Amino acid sequence: MCGIFAYLNYRVPRTRKEIFETLVKGLQRLEYRGYDSAGVAVDGPNSNERNSSICLVKKRGKVKALDEELYKQDSMDLEAELDTHFGIAHTRWATHGVPSAVNSHPHRSDKNNEFVVIHNGIITNYKELKKYLQIKGYEFESETDTEVIPKLIKYVFDNWESEYVSFSSLVERVIQQLEGAFALVFKSIHYPGEAIATRRGSPLLIGVRSKFDLSTEEIPITYNNSNFKNENNENDANRKQRLNSLTCLYSVGDLKAVEYYFASDASAIIEHTNKVIYLEDDDIAAVAEGKLSIHRMNRLAGDDSSRAIQTLQMEMQQIMKGNFKAFMQKEIFEQPESVVNTMRGRVCFENNTVILGGLKDHLKEIKRCRRLIVIGCGTSFHAAVATRQILEELTELPVMVELASDFLDRNTPVFRDDVCFFISQSGETADTLMALRYCKDRGALTVGVTNTVGSSICRETSCGIHINAGPEIGVASTKAYTSQFVAFVMFGLMMSEDRISLQKRRLEIISSLQALPGQIKAVLALDSKIKELADELYKQRSLLVMGRGFNYATCLEGALKIKEITYMHSEGILAGELKHGPLALIDKHMPVIMIIVRDACYTKCQNALQQVIARQGCPIIICSEDDPESMKNAYKTIEIPHTVDCLQGILSVIPLQLMSFHLAVLRGYDVDCPRNLAKSVTVE
Ligand code: G6P
Repeated sequence: MCGIFAYLNYRVPRTRKEIFETLVKGLQRLEYRGYDSAGVAVDGPNSNERNSSICLVKKRGKVKALDEELYKQDSMDLEAELDTHFGIAHTRWATHGVPSAVNSHPHRSDKNNEFVVIHNGIITNYKELKKYLQIKGYEFESETDTEVIPKLIKYVFDNWESEYVSFSSLVERVIQQLEGAFALVFKSIHYPGEAIATRRGSPLLIGVRSKFDLSTEEIPITYNNSNFKNENNENDANRKQRLNSLTCLYSVGDLKAVEYYFASDASAIIEHTNKVIYLEDDDIAAVAEGKLSIHRMNRLAGDDSSRAIQTLQMEMQQIMKGNFKAFMQKEIFEQPESVVNTMRGRVCFENNTVILGGLKDHLKEIKRCRRLIVIGCGTSFHAAVATRQILEELTELPVMVELASDFLDRNTPVFRDDVCFFISQSGETADTLMALRYCKDRGALTVGVTNTVGSSICRETSCGIHINAGPEIGVASTKAYTSQFVAFVMFGLMMSEDRISLQKRRLEIISSLQALPGQIKAVLALDSKIKELADELYKQRSLLVMGRGFNYATCLEGALKIKEITYMHSEGILAGELKHGPLALIDKHMPVIMIIVRDACYTKCQNALQQVIARQGCPIIICSEDDPESMKNAYKTIEIPHTVDCLQGILSVIPLQLMSFHLAVLRGYDVDCPRNLAKSVTVE
């Protein structure tokens, strides 16, 4: 949902070309968050300390189109070296207003570009604000909710009671008026070389690169406004003094040169620095004269927390495509390792124990609860569906599995003795986050299951599990699904450690987990066979995926992958429901994939197969390697290794991930950037 990237170089000379390259590269890393239009704001050609101007370049389409546009700017001397400069950039996923240059970010306060802003999130009270500002004479040019923000900051600036006001005070006044969710970065001709970043509900982090050792630094947060007092009639000397007194990263030491990177997520920062600060809701981060300070909007006296500079564990190669055609393909093929990373340090295969460090201290409380509720969206929801049965079996608790949006729509009753899990790859999905706050307000214990350390869901839950699948960039989620799956199975195993009646079952699952990476490799080896099947299918308009029991979630997830990236109609059908409707769709033309593996549902699935065949359907069957030859001879099959029933869904989903990838490529679509979708949906 929109990517924010901004770059400030302070006393680090960079040519304008280098600055463009940094901004564009940053946006490319974030392109999976939105890719219908993009834009940048940089200092204009003749800017200097006293006389600055801002140049905006915006373009409909992908970041590549913006990149080309940047080099067509005749007025810009690309070789000009800028000692200190602040540039902001944005890639958009449209919510309000069609994708177009005028609706894309940065948005501006007026024709002189006095204030420009980039935004991720949604301003829910923008209509009221717009009306007010229009009455005050401000003219709007776009259809977006965002545009009220630059207009509002100019209004506050124009009407400030005294001659001088700090950039940060202006922003503070502005965000007090905003409702909804936002991550914002501001730039202004009135504050050359200064940057302001703030957030509420949408992620934002700041990378810092300097020659100083930042490993142990903490940035204290200012909770009173003393640093921003005496703004009335501030002269240059006062301003210098004030800036020096700011609670800042470099209050000691000789600050010569520093670079700051602002981004929606770490993948855009890691190639520059691994030192980052995650902003929290209502933090206002300001960079002025190279110094970073952070203060909070709703500060409480005596509250003296700080923001630590953290070291990112991410590696560059994790966010590069390597030899693969698409990130999605790379991520599918990473699954033998990503499931190992999910289990690492948690499952001990020598003594058959499972310990999830993030839940250990809450285990007693969880065991005493009345029920488990697992809440998520999209693929994450499917991972909950996939593991519900084994969780019920191993925890002996009722397990509710909920789509976050529906859970909220229903005002679902939640009690203090419920334990609520929030499952989200990004940890930022708005509906899931809202559901988390809803459950928290009702006193339930909240548990996060995410792939993004430092995300909102991580921070706001009482405890949790990091799935550790590594960065997932393809919009269609793949390795996160299998790691979420493994994470929930591990949770079930931890919960059942002391149940004597379940020991045999536990041992079977633990030894199957050990064999899983090798078996995933065996499924991936079927890639060329799956490609051949895709060659036969790619011109079809529809594809049904059927199964039941432990493999029902695979049908939902497989069908989601197919519709997301191939734009074919696809439906995951519970085989038990076949005769209650879907059978009407079956004839010799309707492509069907069925999952029939040797588990408790085998006979029932065979019955469904007979019903399909009787209507002249000719399904492709995902079956077990050890199935009889007669089955393999009679149908087109994809033969996967056999594992314990509750893990089979991990192996059965991979052929469908591969199938959707090949279908999308054959149909000529951009696998990593499917139309109308975005990886992280931070609006309700
Ligand atoms: C979007 C993505 C899906 C994802 C869903 C939930 O719709 O396109 O791939 O499954 O959000 O995202 P989360 O980050 O909460 O798992």
